[in-house]
Amino acid sequence: MEREFVLETERLRLRRYRRDDVDELDAILGDPETMRYYPEPYSRARVLEWIEDNIRRYREDGSGLWAMELKETGAFAGNCGPAVRVVQGTPQIELGWHVARPLWGQGLAPEAAAACRDWAFEHLDAERVIALVRPENLPSRRVAEKIGMTVEDEVLYGQMSWVHLVYAVHR
Ligand SMILES: CC(C)(COP(=O)(O)OP(=O)(O)OC[C@H]1O[C@@H](n2cnc3c(N)ncnc32)[C@H](O)[C@@H]1OP(=O)(O)O)[C@@H](O)C(=O)NCCC(=O)NCCS
Repeated sequence: MEREFVLETERLRLRRYRRDDVDELDAILGDPETMRYYPEPYSRARVLEWIEDNIRRYREDGSGLWAMELKETGAFAGNCGPAVRVVQGTPQIELGWHVARPLWGQGLAPEAAAACRDWAFEHLDAERVIALVRPENLPSRRVAEKIGMTVEDEVLYGQMSWVHLVYAVHR
């Protein structure tokens, strides 16, 4: 069951995380350049917690961040997926995305995110899908824009309560 792919795009397969993904995910979430818009890069222990949290989300919410693999080589490429997050007291479906640094600039995040947006509207009871992005994170803002999202709000979010733009696209 765990090895089944949830989604396929032209270049990517998205599947549920497994605990043995920790090393490959650590290379992404533990990388200071990739995590420059986060309070700090994740420790290996935090990466493992992150995987556990997504496995819980699959069970409780039916979705979460999924691992992405390049179809051509099977290489681990990053993650993308819809996760339930409480924003200003209301549960929302948020799309998140991280891509392995050597693969940046090839349009992989928008390709995955567009498929996740469509999956969310098909499978989840959501009128809109959002992405929470720090204003300074221009590459991530471009991904949101490329999948048809626009800024609808600004909120204080995360462990540091930093300002995040609420990008959204409606059903
Ligand atoms: C945001 C991110 C997922 C984009 O993934 P991607 O597959 O490279 O997406 P794209 O190829 O569509 O590029 C998006 C934008 O990234 C920027 N970009 C492209 N190549 C880049 C590179 N080598 N280095 C830095 N930025 C680059 C460009 O602004 C690009 O927009 P453009 O196509 O209009 O020029 C990726 O940069 C990443 O993993 N960033 C770190 C994690 C992160 O911040 N996640 C989002 C949290 S809200």
